[in-house]
Parts: sequence; structure tokens; C-alpha cells
Amino acid sequence: MAIKIGNVTLTHPVAMAPMAGMTDTAFRRLVKRQGGCGLVVTEMVSSEGLVRGIDRTLEYAEYTEEERPVSIQIFGGDPVKMADAAQIVEGMGADIVDINMGCPVPKIAKHHAGCSLMREPEHAANIISAMAKAVKIPVTVKMRAGWNEHEINAPTLARMAQDAGAAAVAVHGRTAAQSYTGESDWDLIARVAKGLTIPVLGSGDCVEPDHVVSRLRSSNVGAVLVGRGALRNPWIFKQAAEAAAGKVPSEIPLEERGQFLFDYMQLLLDERVDEADGFRHHAPGQSSGPPPEARGRERWVINKLRALGAWYTKGLDGGAQLRVAINSAKSIPELRDLLASFFLLQRA
Ligand SMILES: Cc1cc2nc3c(=O)[nH]c(=O)nc-3n(C[C@H](O)[C@H](O)[C@H](O)COP(=O)(O)O)c2cc1C
Repeated sequence: MAIKIGNVTLTHPVAMAPMAGMTDTAFRRLVKRQGGCGLVVTEMVSSEGLVRGIDRTLEYAEYTEEERPVSIQIFGGDPVKMADAAQIVEGMGADIVDINMGCPVPKIAKHHAGCSLMREPEHAANIISAMAKAVKIPVTVKMRAGWNEHEINAPTLARMAQDAGAAAVAVHGRTAAQSYTGESDWDLIARVAKGLTIPVLGSGDCVEPDHVVSRLRSSNVGAVLVGRGALRNPWIFKQAAEAAAGKVPSEIPLEERGQFLFDYMQLLLDERVDEADGFRHHAPGQSSGPPPEARGRERWVINKLRALGAWYTKGLDGGAQLRVAINSAKSIPELRDLLASFFLLQRA
């Protein structure tokens, strides 16, 4: 059931949706290692920040070889800057560049970016065509159903995207006004898919392996995107592949669920150790103990664990208590201890 987006092959027709604050390189790597995930997408990255070479922005776009194929999602409203940013993304070696036309957050939407582009279809098409002309890698678009219930225009905009040179379109079947309330409209997604020759990726509310399989079978889509379901259960891709092959999806033992969090924490800490070393390098006379930046980094890792914990603990027995405990942990050793005792790991 492989599919192609332009010249890029997805060995599984299920991808992890872009999620700001969540789908960082560490999380994406771990998800890929569990199997069944055909494509990962970065968090959304500012085209402006890429063009200006801002370090923080470039960090969001970082990825590792084991994540391939990888799509870097960018946002912005200026066709020239979006085309320049697409070239930077291509230069970074990404397989696909994706345009965010779904973000409803006013901070993004007010700059003619994110979902507000759905209200300016001609302008949106200009951005797509400027990018498609600027790069050889596939340009894809991720949109919502529309701006609000009176402006549902995904079928029209998706066709315009195809005509402008997009290699695939992803549709989250909610409007910007809905944000995450109500349900994703998969009838609309199916309608979008019917009207296009390029693949359509459907998004919204696939939180169990059989949801993924049934949407794949009944919605004309080339692939399904899994967002929040992956934050609760990173094995959903592997389980969906098993279900699609007529097998009973694997049960994931509690220890393995715990190990995922340990591994995530470790990958985040490893990234940060490099930076702490860099800091020491610049300040050779530094006395013992972690440099201030490293302490800041520890806090950053704790905050990342809290963000993932908010989703990951849902549905676990005792998950609510675990969530509270993660949120009150003040150090990495404290976090390690409480995860070890919850997930029954034998760790010092
Ligand atoms: C925490 C969070 C962050 C998100 N960030 C992005 C983003 O940066 N770009 C984007 O296109 N969609 C973003 N989305 C939307 C998802 O990609 C997806 O379309 C939506 O969550 C519906 O799918 P789901 O029900 O499988 O979660 C985000 C969703 C969540 C929950």
C-alpha cells in the first residue's frame, strides 16, 4: 500500500501530522523506530525566520536521516519569501516542503499566513506556484475545511493548489473557527479527494488503529494523517499496518510505554549536552556544576516531558495521577524516579 507524493515514496499510507511543540526531531525519530509510519512532518517553521537564518527557526527544521522521508512545514504569506524558504528547505535536504494553510492561531493568521490564506485563494495559489517553480522537491499544502461554516472552500482551494503545482494536499476536516471542537468532516475530505488527481491526505480524529484503516478504505484518500492519536500512542502506525493486513494489533506492554518516555528524555538531553559543551568551550574558566544554560536546558526538557505527558497519560490506568506528578517534578532525576515507579522499570 505504498503511495507516492511526487517522486517520494511513502512505504505506508499513514503519516504523522505536524504538531507545533510536539513533533520535534526526537519524537519523530522514536515514532519512526516503532514502525508503520510512512512520513513525518516537522513542527511548522517560519519562512521569515528561515530566510533571515534565525538559529531558533533553523532548529525547528532539523531532522536526522532515520526520519526519512521527512517533510518540513513552513508558514508565511509572502510568495517571494515562501519560495526562498522552500529553496532553503530543499538545500537542507528535506524530501518535501509543506505549506501551512490550516493554523487558526491569530498570531499566524493575521499575517496572511496559516488558515487565513484559505480566505485569499488567489494569493494562496500564487504562493504555491512560486514555491513549485523555485524547487524540485514536491510542494504540498495542508489546509482545513475552510475558515468557518459559511466559507467551506477546501474542494475549490485544493483544485487550485493542484493547478498551481502542488504534489499533494492534506485536509483537516474542521474549519478554523471550530479549532478542535466538533468532528473532522470526512465526507468533505472524500469529496476533495474525488476532485483531484494528486494524492489527498485526510486528517482528523483517527485515534485508534481501526479508525485509520477504515478512513483509508472509505474516503478516497491516498493516506491518513495521525496527530493527537500518535501523542497518546506512538505505536498506532504499526498497529494500523497490522490491522490493515488483517492481523490483531500488537498490545504494547506498560514497560515499553515507559521506555519510550525515557528514550525521549534521553534524546532531548543528548541534544542539549552538545550545547552545554559549546557553552563551556566559550567559557573555559567555568567552575564545576552545570552552566546556567544547561540548567535552562534541563528546564526545557522537563517542559517538553510535561507537554507530551498531557497527551501520553490519557487512557492509561492511573494516568491522571501520573500527569499531576510529571507536572510537579522539578528535576530530571525526580522525573526519572517517578516514571520508573509508574512503569515498573528497574532503574536506579
Ligand atoms: C498540539 C497540536 C499542534 C499542531 N500544530 C500544527 C502545525 O504546526 N501545523 C499544522 O498544519 N497542523 C497542526 N496541528 C493540526 C494537526 O496536524 C492535525 O491536522 C489535527 O490535530 C487533526 O488531527 P488529529 O485529530 O489526528 O489530531 C496541530 C495539532 C495539535 C493537536
